[in-house]
Amino acid sequence: MNQNEKKQAVAQAAIEYVKKGTIIGVGTGSTTNYFIDALAPIADLLEGAVSSSEASTKRLEALGITVFDLNEVASLDIYVDGADEVNPQKHMIKGGGAALTREKIVSAVAKQFICIVDESKQVEVMGAFPLPVEVIPMARSYVAREIVKLGGDPVYRQGVVTDNGNVILDVHNLKITDPIALENKLNQIVGVVTNGLFAERGADVLLVASDNGVKTY
Ligand code: A5P
Repeated sequence: MNQNEKKQAVAQAAIEYVKKGTIIGVGTGSTTNYFIDALAPIADLLEGAVSSSEASTKRLEALGITVFDLNEVASLDIYVDGADEVNPQKHMIKGGGAALTREKIVSAVAKQFICIVDESKQVEVMGAFPLPVEVIPMARSYVAREIVKLGGDPVYRQGVVTDNGNVILDVHNLKITDPIALENKLNQIVGVVTNGLFAERGADVLLVASDNGVKTY
């Protein structure tokens, strides 16, 4: 299987967690796109979805799936999304697609976070993938200096504006040995909207596709 076939296989496996008549939380990215495509045969059976990005909203609506505003929804059974890195504790780095803030908000409302990845995303220690941090534009340089004090090398993601009108700093050269502590530290910097560590609330179910099929952790 090539990487796209693995993404497709793991996305298909997540369909088992989708219950009829419910509203589901949907992430963003190429793996999630396969998940949305896999919803097609059961689209009519869903009450709808809450989406984490304009891109996913468009794709869901193209299948005739109603996309609700999160404020209209009291709870979600599941949230399905990919990740850029995931460690054995099911902590994740997310935000490669710049949708981290809405992803963190929608996933916070869900009872179960189902993370869908191919095996290339599994790591022992996170940090090889630069950690995305969404920042209020006027705070960009200040936040970058504070991140340097924490030992990271922030790089401004040129030309990218998030769905929330903010900018992204990608933090290189971190060896994230305590993801929960770093997630909280970054959140304390004034001007940071969200960081891409999903460790305080990691995944509840991790599905990983490899040449041997899809494994559940
Ligand atoms: C989007 O902002 C990200 O959090 C994605 O979930 C993550 O980058 C995984 O994307 P792929 O499935 O495209 O690798």
